[in-house]
Amino acid sequence: MTNNAQWSSRLGFILASAGSAIGLGAIWKFPFWAGANGGGAFIIPYILFTFTIGLCLVMAEVSIGRRGRGSVVSAMRRVGGPWFGLLGALAVLTAYIILSYYSVVGGWCVSYLWDAIRGSVATSDPEVLKANFGALVTNGTENVAWHLAFLSLTCGTVVLGVESGIERVSKYLMPTLFVLMVAIIVRSLTLDNAWEGVKYLFHFDLDSINSKAILNAMGFTFFSLSLGAGILVTYGSYLSDKTNIPNASVWVAALAIQAALLAGLMIMPAVFAFGLEPNGGPGLVFVTVPLVFSKVPFGAFFALLFYICLLVAALTSAVSLLEVVTAFLQNEWHLSRRTAVLLNWVTLFLLGAVSALSFGPWSGFTIFGMTFFDLLDFICTNFLMPLGGMSIAVLAGWLAWPKIREQLTSVKSYSPALLTLIRIMIAVLAPVLVAVALLQGIMG
Ligand code: PFF
Repeated sequence: MTNNAQWSSRLGFILASAGSAIGLGAIWKFPFWAGANGGGAFIIPYILFTFTIGLCLVMAEVSIGRRGRGSVVSAMRRVGGPWFGLLGALAVLTAYIILSYYSVVGGWCVSYLWDAIRGSVATSDPEVLKANFGALVTNGTENVAWHLAFLSLTCGTVVLGVESGIERVSKYLMPTLFVLMVAIIVRSLTLDNAWEGVKYLFHFDLDSINSKAILNAMGFTFFSLSLGAGILVTYGSYLSDKTNIPNASVWVAALAIQAALLAGLMIMPAVFAFGLEPNGGPGLVFVTVPLVFSKVPFGAFFALLFYICLLVAALTSAVSLLEVVTAFLQNEWHLSRRTAVLLNWVTLFLLGAVSALSFGPWSGFTIFGMTFFDLLDFICTNFLMPLGGMSIAVLAGWLAWPKIREQLTSVKSYSPALLTLIRIMIAVLAPVLVAVALLQGIMG
């Protein structure tokens, strides 16, 4: 069965794909990862990876999607044969699992936004803030309830369809996100001592360039471009034949980088202005950021803006994950969009609830020393997503290159040298780097 849904415009596709890319990864993970991995020593490889291998894999995924016109399973099967259909199914599973725990963190965003609306998020006592965050994540009922709230928002968007749901939401929310981020950056950069934060983020220390920082940058590029989980294949399947894929892909990659850098500039200068710990880890946006807002003039207002940003970013990414699974259920199981979303809503609620409970009541239950939440994240980021990326690279770079090439050049022709370069990235460099990352994942 083919899919008839389509984006109404090239912009709709770009914003929805950028919405998928720009998520908790950019706003929550990037600032403290960049800091912890040596600033420029992480940011420069991240930008380089994004504009080389990352960009080429984006083009490959979108091309497979548009050529195969269906869910990631049907598209990969049509382009590469039954075995690739199976690898497509693995991508669906990856998206499904990621969404189950992404929704738990999304729930924290809803909860903090709710507090920000009530004006109770920013407190100047770090111990209280830590205790609040701890209380939220360890309270089973609350954690599950916020997860359900976030999941319901995600399902509510996807059930409306590709154009009236996903595209419409992205078209309103992504520009809003940008404006809010800039507003917060202006506030953050005008604080005393803010420059220290900028230096911390962008300092370039040759000694910190090591294989670990580079591999971390590679892993982050993958996560941040939403590669390897069938997302861009699915979104590509809704793309009009008139859209120039390389050009649209450059936009997506550039927007993703821009958002990560803006997020760094939004958070780090303010953290430094108040002499806080820049390597706040996962607690950075839920503990350190409220602390910052408690100290700046009009902090409550900026806190509200910040948590709107965080929720918007998380929501548009979650929506993309859900669309992968929904398109699969529509195409392969012939369910209506409504039934597919309902099925996802129920089962993802249950699976996510296990992750939510693994912070509190079920934290004693560990596998390989990891809680359920950590285990799922570990499997997805270290194995499933790289494996997904690898199958795309092999399919697009080796088996189906003529079809991919045709997609890339269907609107505008490019020089043979450029196309060869793209192919080398997809067929050789991407698999080698992914293999190294996989090995590193296995060996820990
Ligand atoms: N790109 C999203 C982020 O940076 O938060 C996360 C993500 C979405 C990862 C979808 C993977 C994925 F398939």
